[in-house]
Amino acid sequence: MNKIVIVMPTYKEKENIEKMIPELFEKQFPSIKDAEMHLLIVNDLPYKGPDDGTGDVVRKYMSNYSRLHILEGKKEGLGWAYVRGIKYAVNKLQADAIIEMDADFQHPPRFVRPMVEAYLGGADYVIGSRYIKGGSVPSEWAIHRKAISFFGNLFIRIILLKPSIHDLTTGFRLTRVRGVLDKIKLENLMELKRFAYKVDLLYQSIKNSKKVVEVPLEFAPRAQESSKFSMKEMLATFKVAIILGIKDKERFIKYAIVGFVGYVINAIGLEIFYRLGFAAGLAAALGAEFAIISNFILNNFWTFKDEKIVDFKRALLKFAQFNFSSFGAVIIQGVVVGIGTVLFGNSVRQVMLVIAIGFFVIPYNYAMYNLFIWKTWKIPFFARIQKMLG
Ligand code: GDD
Ligand code: MN
Repeated sequence: MNKIVIVMPTYKEKENIEKMIPELFEKQFPSIKDAEMHLLIVNDLPYKGPDDGTGDVVRKYMSNYSRLHILEGKKEGLGWAYVRGIKYAVNKLQADAIIEMDADFQHPPRFVRPMVEAYLGGADYVIGSRYIKGGSVPSEWAIHRKAISFFGNLFIRIILLKPSIHDLTTGFRLTRVRGVLDKIKLENLMELKRFAYKVDLLYQSIKNSKKVVEVPLEFAPRAQESSKFSMKEMLATFKVAIILGIKDKERFIKYAIVGFVGYVINAIGLEIFYRLGFAAGLAAALGAEFAIISNFILNNFWTFKDEKIVDFKRALLKFAQFNFSSFGAVIIQGVVVGIGTVLFGNSVRQVMLVIAIGFFVIPYNYAMYNLFIWKTWKIPFFARIQKMLG
């Protein structure tokens, strides 16, 4: 049977945990027939000042419930609490899946079951989502709090290019261990001292998952004590999202920079050769060739450094192909500017050039490099041509 461990971090949650443990073991777990449910409390103790005795409450219950576990340590922040908890659940308890869940009843325990059902139905990653039908944020929340949560979440969705997922900041999630969680280096997640690590963990988990399912979550108001979330936490969350967003597009960004350098070289070359007495057309062509050489070298050693071409003979072959592919871009420009000016008159030529480069040449070159020059895209349809080109 599948073993599922709920990893529940607590920091000064005595009154909540007192109710949460029996609620899960008496009411919720008995209704889940097809999985063995465990609860692991990861309790943090304050560095200074009195401890509220959350751990004692847990230990008291442990004599009644054999599937209740506790890990205790000094407070290092929410992310680290989860890292310790998840490792323990995977290595010591041999969990098949883990659930991240808050102790303060903001994740109402009745939502555990649908989450487990989605997992048993084949999901690798299940997200308790406040922003799909059936999900909600507390109606008590002031309008500004709702707006911050909604737009913050929308911002991260756009940055990470994950429009299909509606709640990227939720703290209530289930993750399959094999193939998903066990491929993630938990200590390397960003911002482990804070809540913001959540976005990184979600991002890595989605990457490893074949099937992601969102189930509705009615996010409840806090039952006891006070929230540990703050403005600082929110900014850290945005930071993580931005870094992830950029990292993912790193190759494309480098390609764009190299392209811009190429353009500058092209322009300078045109000027120099023109002033040396070459005809303008020939000067432009010479400038273009220098840009092509610079693009090839910079892309080889920087943009595509993971697929770097080092063999000299192969470099010559690839450089020839690179020139041929660049010639394709020349044709694209000619066709687009030609058609545009025939349709709308010669005055649109500069606009058409921008359109040709922005919409056609940039994606064309990027695709050619990835497909045929450095061959980072493995697309079965092109496999034979890729092989033929060496
Ligand atoms: N062990 C440990 N260590 N637990 C912690 C720590 C810590 O440093 N900080 C918070 N917790 C525990 C709390 O005791 C609670 O069980 C849970 O983590 C969530 O903390 P809250 O303080 O209740 O956070 P929140 O309700 O403001 O934030 C919720 O919404 C965020 C945004 O949607 C959480 O669900 C977050 O996970 C979520 O990102
Ligand atoms: Mn809370």
